[in-house]
Amino acid sequence: MSERIKIVDLLNSTEAKPLVLLKGWIRTLRESKDFSFIEVNDGSCLANIQVIVDSDIENYTEIVKLTTGASISIHGELIESPGKGQQWEIRAGSIEILGIAPEEFPLQKKRHTDEYLRTISHLRPRSNKYSAIFRMRSKLSFAIHQFFQKRDFQWIHTPIITGSDCEGAGEMFSVTTLDMNDIPKKNGAVDYEKDFFGKEASLTVSGQLSVETFCLSLGDVYTFGPTFRSENSNTSRHMSEFWMIEPEMAFADLQDDMKLGQEFIQYLVKYTMEECAEDLELFAKFVDKNLMTTLENILNNDFIRLPYTQAITILEQSGKKFEYDVAWGKDLQSEHERFLTEEHFKQPVIVYDYPKDIKAFYMRLNDDEKTVAAMDILVPAIGEIIGGSQREERYDVLKKRINDMNFDEADYWWYLDTRKYGTVPHAGFGLGFERLLMLVSGISNIRDVIPFPRTPKNLEF
Ligand code: 4AD
Ligand code: MG
Repeated sequence: MSERIKIVDLLNSTEAKPLVLLKGWIRTLRESKDFSFIEVNDGSCLANIQVIVDSDIENYTEIVKLTTGASISIHGELIESPGKGQQWEIRAGSIEILGIAPEEFPLQKKRHTDEYLRTISHLRPRSNKYSAIFRMRSKLSFAIHQFFQKRDFQWIHTPIITGSDCEGAGEMFSVTTLDMNDIPKKNGAVDYEKDFFGKEASLTVSGQLSVETFCLSLGDVYTFGPTFRSENSNTSRHMSEFWMIEPEMAFADLQDDMKLGQEFIQYLVKYTMEECAEDLELFAKFVDKNLMTTLENILNNDFIRLPYTQAITILEQSGKKFEYDVAWGKDLQSEHERFLTEEHFKQPVIVYDYPKDIKAFYMRLNDDEKTVAAMDILVPAIGEIIGGSQREERYDVLKKRINDMNFDEADYWWYLDTRKYGTVPHAGFGLGFERLLMLVSGISNIRDVIPFPRTPKNLEF
């Protein structure tokens, strides 16, 4: 019995092979009198392998009735292809039918809209475009670990269920085992003491606060996992469940943070170009004609570093009509971010030193006492892809900030402890993995780069 060989390995073969076993799904079948051609794909790479089926094989009449989507197992010979366009093909010796795909199989040859394909998230990875993006997603996950592991960053598994709100924005999903039809109350409010954890629990919006405690012991660390936000925004860049990578460096400041952010993005772009070339070509051809230019541009230039105050001046003087007002003290909207990176600088921009009132409590207060050492990395077509900061490492300043924000200091006792015992300057950021995938593929809707997107009112799969 021969062992199954994946199509990626067959196509990369350096020699003909007399007996191989491959399995996969039919993409197309062309029938002619004496023989038929079947294009087979097994998901291991974008390319199909061509299988030649002679009419004298035993179940020929059944085989030629098969349609797109059917699954088969083939014993055959790997031979040099006399045809154009491929080096290798398979001459089938025998074919076993594993599963037919009746006519109503939704992924027939014609092209479907992304909107329609979202309604069949369980089948869309069988199409070229979606198999390509999910292979890239897998490869880039590996590249992320490689980037950090090479630099001696330790991967920390921060919890998904949490008792604290990292961003302080209150956009959290509750985790509870209370009976929704009979909620226990105490003094008019929910009695969380009766809940599973004895206190209010949520899905995490970020692993940052937890990973900071490890930063202050293991040095350089990172998290890579799912995060959840209950923000009710239906944009092409937001999801309720997304994956985030959050490095945190000890003995580091905002400059180090910006440098790491740039190097990280450039590493992942380079990795995509080198290790995902075949899949990338599909996106450059069919999804975004400017993709390669965009990626080259990211790779070959230092990112612009722009203080927030200057960004506001540029926006005010741009003469552009924005939907949202521009004023010092207001947060940048996506239209502003995109103007800076797409129109004004035409390359990635790092905006830093934001007003303290629009940023999270843990960011380090600058000497002007009006701004914090925050930085956002903005890229064309997406806007913010990274959000980070140098952290407030001074115990008294942090404590004051927690109180000024009207947070309950008691909730942050363990976070404050890290500043009490051997505090050090440290900095980190969060990169939205899906936004990175949009960047390297040119895909314009975030729902199309995650296997099963979760957005408001959408939980089918
Ligand atoms: O800017 P954010 O909210 O920063 C944090 O959560 C920090 N705790 C990170 C840190 O310093 N360790 O989110 C970071 C990044 C954003 O720049 C964006 O790429 C992505 O996460 N992101 C989202 N991606 C998809 N859907 C959403 N709803 C997102 N919210 C943020
Ligand atoms: Mg942000």
